[in-house]
Amino acid sequence: MNRDKYLNAVKSSLEQNIFYHSLALEACMGGIYDYLSKNNLLKNDKLSKKDWTLAGLIHDIDYVGEFKEFHPNKTKEALAKSNLEIPDEIDKIVKAHAPSLTGIKTESLAQWAIFCADSLTGLIVAVALIYPSKKLAEVKVNSVLKRFLKEPRFAAGTRRDEVKMCELPEGLNIPLEKFIEICLTSMQLIAPDIGL
Ligand SMILES: [Fe+2]
Repeated sequence: MNRDKYLNAVKSSLEQNIFYHSLALEACMGGIYDYLSKNNLLKNDKLSKKDWTLAGLIHDIDYVGEFKEFHPNKTKEALAKSNLEIPDEIDKIVKAHAPSLTGIKTESLAQWAIFCADSLTGLIVAVALIYPSKKLAEVKVNSVLKRFLKEPRFAAGTRRDEVKMCELPEGLNIPLEKFIEICLTSMQLIAPDIGL
C-alpha cells in the first residue's frame, strides 16, 4: 500500500482542518504502536504499523459530501472515488473510532488506539494555539493533562471519557499521562505538516 496515494486522496477530499487532524491521528497511531512494540505489549496483534497508521490517515475520508451522514461507514466507497481499496482489517480499525455510528465493538489494540486518540488530537492542538507562537514544540505534557482533567470546558469537543479509556486493562492499558505524552510527541514530530 502506497501511503502517498492515500495521502493525496485524503488531502483532496477533506477541508484543511480535517486533513490536518487526519495527519495528526496517523502520527498518534504510529506513536502508540511504537510504544506498545518497544514494551512488548502488542500481544498477538497481527496488524502492522502501516495498517495502524493508514487507518489513522483515512479514518475521516468519508466525512464529506454524499457520504458524510453515513460516516464512518462509507470509507471504502469514499476511497473508491480515488481508485483505492483497503482490506477489511483496516476498515474495522476505522469503524472502531466511532462505535456508536458503526456498531463495531472495540476489541483489537489498533481499535482501542484509534478510539482513544481520535479526539485527543484536538485538545493538543488547542493547547498549542494558546501560545503566541502557536507552536506544538512549546506544549508540555503537564499543560495538556491539566486542561484535560481540570478544565472540562477547554476544547469541549474532546471526548474525555473515551480518551481516558486508554487506561482500561482490556484495552491499551496505558496511563493517561503516558498516553498524552505519546500522542503529543508524535504530533510534535510532524508539526510543520499540520501548520503548528
Ligand atoms: Fe477523527
